[in-house]
Amino acid sequence: MKNENVLIVAVLLLAMTACGGGGQSQADKSKEQAANKTPDPTTLEEAEKNWQSDYGIGPVSSFELPAEVDADLVAKGMEIFDAKCTACHKVDKQFIGPEPKGILTRRTPAWIMNMILNPDEMVQKNHIAKQLLIKFNGSPMANQNLTEEEARAVLEYFRTL
Ligand code: HEC
Repeated sequence: MKNENVLIVAVLLLAMTACGGGGQSQADKSKEQAANKTPDPTTLEEAEKNWQSDYGIGPVSSFELPAEVDADLVAKGMEIFDAKCTACHKVDKQFIGPEPKGILTRRTPAWIMNMILNPDEMVQKNHIAKQLLIKFNGSPMANQNLTEEEARAVLEYFRTL
């Protein structure tokens, strides 16, 4: 009786391993994934094509800006920008980094906040940020340790540039 049980278990285990993966081998699966994957963009222009659906990587998910610009928030944002960003950014021309003027016509609000709050991961994993790092000769965007609230204020300031 005991031996019979052992045999049944052994047969069941064999059946389970033989059918594992639903009949598709691991090699088949990775081949399929490679075929479905579009190649990474190799230029900034290419990466920017889908900017309107690119929210970046970080703590902020897609959100809509209110129609009205909040003047108090703008003032706060300007103060923060002048103190922590002007070492590398000039408002309306390229410097160590790009100019923020007009940024809302090429980046989503969430992308901008994620770039401010999580630049290290952004330049490693986000298509646009990766290409920016190349364009700016590998000098990285610095994490200035802003809070989410401060980054939101800077974004409001950017709306006025
Ligand atoms: C040490 C220099 C440095 C400082 C300080 C810095 N940045 Fe940057 N920033 C860069 C560089 C360089 C880039 C271009 C991307 C890259 O190379 O990683 C960049 C990119 C950006 C971008 C993306 C611009 C675009 O056109 O897509 C935003 C937004 C930005 N920075 C905001 C800020 C804000 C806000 C601050 C201050 C809190 C700041 N940066 C401080 C160097 C800096």
